[in-house]
Amino acid sequence: MDALIRYGGASYRASEDETILQALLRQGAQPAYSCGRGSCQVCMLKLVSGQVVASKTPFEQTGAHDHILPCLCRAEGEVELAPADRDSLTVAAEIVEVRPLAADIAELFIAPMQTLDTAPGQHVYLQRDADSPARPYSVVSQPFEDFGFRIHVRALPGGALSSWLVHEARPGMQLRVRGPQGQMGYAPSMRKTPLLLLATGVGAGALAGIARAALADGHAAGIDFHHGGRHAADLYLHADLSALARTYPNFRYHPCLSQASVAGVAQGRVTLQALGAAADLRQVQVLLCGHPAMVEDARYLAIRHGTDRGRIQADPYVLAHDTAPRDARKLALVEPDPALWAALEQGKRLTPILRDFYTRVFADPRLAPYFHGLTVEYVAGKQYAFLAQVFSGERSFFGLNPHNGHHWMVISDELFDHREALFEQVLRDHGLPDALIQRWIALHEWFRAEIVKAAPKGRFVDGQMLPAPQDSVERLDLDTVCDRCGSEIPAGSPSRYVQRLGELHCRQCAVLGAD
Ligand SMILES: Cc1cc2nc3c(=O)[nH]c(=O)nc-3n(C[C@H](O)[C@H](O)[C@H](O)COP(=O)(O)OP(=O)(O)OC[C@H]3O[C@@H](n4cnc5c(N)ncnc54)[C@H](O)[C@@H]3O)c2cc1C
Ligand code: FES
Repeated sequence: MDALIRYGGASYRASEDETILQALLRQGAQPAYSCGRGSCQVCMLKLVSGQVVASKTPFEQTGAHDHILPCLCRAEGEVELAPADRDSLTVAAEIVEVRPLAADIAELFIAPMQTLDTAPGQHVYLQRDADSPARPYSVVSQPFEDFGFRIHVRALPGGALSSWLVHEARPGMQLRVRGPQGQMGYAPSMRKTPLLLLATGVGAGALAGIARAALADGHAAGIDFHHGGRHAADLYLHADLSALARTYPNFRYHPCLSQASVAGVAQGRVTLQALGAAADLRQVQVLLCGHPAMVEDARYLAIRHGTDRGRIQADPYVLAHDTAPRDARKLALVEPDPALWAALEQGKRLTPILRDFYTRVFADPRLAPYFHGLTVEYVAGKQYAFLAQVFSGERSFFGLNPHNGHHWMVISDELFDHREALFEQVLRDHGLPDALIQRWIALHEWFRAEIVKAAPKGRFVDGQMLPAPQDSVERLDLDTVCDRCGSEIPAGSPSRYVQRLGELHCRQCAVLGAD
């Protein structure tokens, strides 16, 4: 049954399969939003009453129990929302120290006016003032250090905040801080588990903080710390991490540069150094921090080498604006999987697996709407053509890349996980061995970034992101029928064509005014 959202003096309906943000946009409300995936916090609203469903609690989303990110939540029953009370969420803070660590990297020591319980790996949102954009930065300091927290910032030219923090911020200047938030961090339950820490750029600050927390806790297993960069200056913690490796026998530091040759430093891609062919990662806890492309690739490789998805913590440092999808590049790098193809008997077992999977998808109330108007045979056939080429290596044309194939679909991380759990169950029911299931799941995981989103996007064509398709309000010349409720839409009455569903909705279903 549809939920009801009250917001800005109007009411909006939301179906089970759409986020609150999407329901508001679909019905013509104009809430502010940017990233559409829980990262920029631009869409934040106050939850005045009612229940929302999301994979993260409101506190995990926003740092407050009564605020939510509508791009991550679905509404349940009746939900009342109001503009975010941002002043109540942030605390004033003072910059105590700015310490340059490289030409474009600085460590900032920030003292909030009220105690914040921060731990290394969590992130805090910083703003210069209430009207300027907020950006997340990872905490690098230990909870017991001083009366504030430390962050490492790399200045991005033209960026709204980072350049100011690195090049212009001075002790005594004021900021607003919100948080801390995030799941990344060390827990004593990991004490006997080997840790693989993999960072690029300033992601090393947070992971170094986590490594220090682990060592202070008496971590009993090995810690492998991989830090990747392009040039020697990117390894800005080289001396600190080398010293840590000399002090603790179970801490191993592996620097790696992709575009420079330095004695004692490996050359190449850090993801391959850390997660290369020989790695067996079944018992390893993997922590990834830094450039989004590195995090996506490393997550794929870790799962491929046996790491359970639940054992991976990842903070991709995604920027607030949309960036180009990487799916074409990833597809070019996917290697054929002869063992999996043989286990699928060169495709004979693939067809029944896909038929079974899509039969369950079509019966699933959350997934079925994405396949409106299609048949199990059609969808399974298209997926067969794609996978047969990937697994066998006999490639001609893959059809649409994942971004363009899903550009209009609003899919949350949680829905992606829901689909993957269903898929994994089907593979198990069909008796595929664990190692092959893992490799197949890893392939899907690699394209998560191109598929998960909170608002429709345009296609990516010739290096350009086209505008997202807009739902249009129409007045048809003929009587017709609402695709949603089945009632008549008289000629001349307003109706909304919903691109995402390929459906025409009547005035009531689309919540349009009489005119
Ligand atoms: C969980 C998390 C933790 C993070 N931790 C850290 C950290 O510890 N340290 C750190 O340095 N960073 C971290 N980041 C990244 C950080 O939050 C900021 O995104 C980063 O500092 C850039 O912010 P900015 O305001 O300076 O740049 P922005 O204004 O976001 O711009 C970034 C870059 O994109 C360009 N740009 C802006 N808009 C567009 C557009 N529409 N099209 C094309 N280009 C555009 C700008 O010129 C600039 O070069 C983290 C991110 C996340 C998600
Ligand atoms: S966090 Fe919701 S739009 Fe960015």
